[in-house]
Amino acid sequence: MKNYLKKTLISEEKIKTRVKELAETIAKDYTGEPLSVIGLSNGALIFVADLIRGINIPLHLDSLMASSYSGVESTGKIDIVSGMKLPVKNRHVLIVDDILDTGRTITKVIKLVEKGSPLSIKTCVFLDKPSRRVVDYKADYIGFEIEDAFVVGYGLDCNEAFRNLPYIAIVKEEFYK
Ligand code: IMP
Ligand code: MG
Repeated sequence: MKNYLKKTLISEEKIKTRVKELAETIAKDYTGEPLSVIGLSNGALIFVADLIRGINIPLHLDSLMASSYSGVESTGKIDIVSGMKLPVKNRHVLIVDDILDTGRTITKVIKLVEKGSPLSIKTCVFLDKPSRRVVDYKADYIGFEIEDAFVVGYGLDCNEAFRNLPYIAIVKEEFYK
């Protein structure tokens, strides 16, 4: 896999430390409250699995599948491929995604979750690329803010490849051009 990667951006160790910090903050913020964590698959699968194991308060886990990307280009059209299974009424919702890029996905998902009448909705993203924003949105919990580069690993893909990489890397252009 390494032949296709330009450089490592965030090491496995740095990811572990930051995810633990985020989980502890979230646990503190929601202590005593009914919490539902909704991971956006497939990208947030790995992050959400690590994150919730560090949140040592009771919670529900659900997932929602949204899709917008084809290769390295956001199509701008967000499809909700499959929805949540559990009710969120009278519960606080934390939506978890791999990366906040244009902001289209998360804002569309928030609108969908609102229909379930939760007590509150907050968002947690592993990565944030603020320079790429099209829809104005700020996440409540952010793992790392990064430059405008197409990254893979820790759940993030390029044409479905590299999700299993345990760190974050930038892909060589020849891989997707
Ligand atoms: P948004 O709707 O543009 O904010 O896009 C969010 C989604 O785009 C993420 O959940 C990812 O699936 C995908 N995405 C955005 N940037 C990257 C990247 O650098 N690498 C891999 N996927 C990305
Ligand atoms: Mg995604």
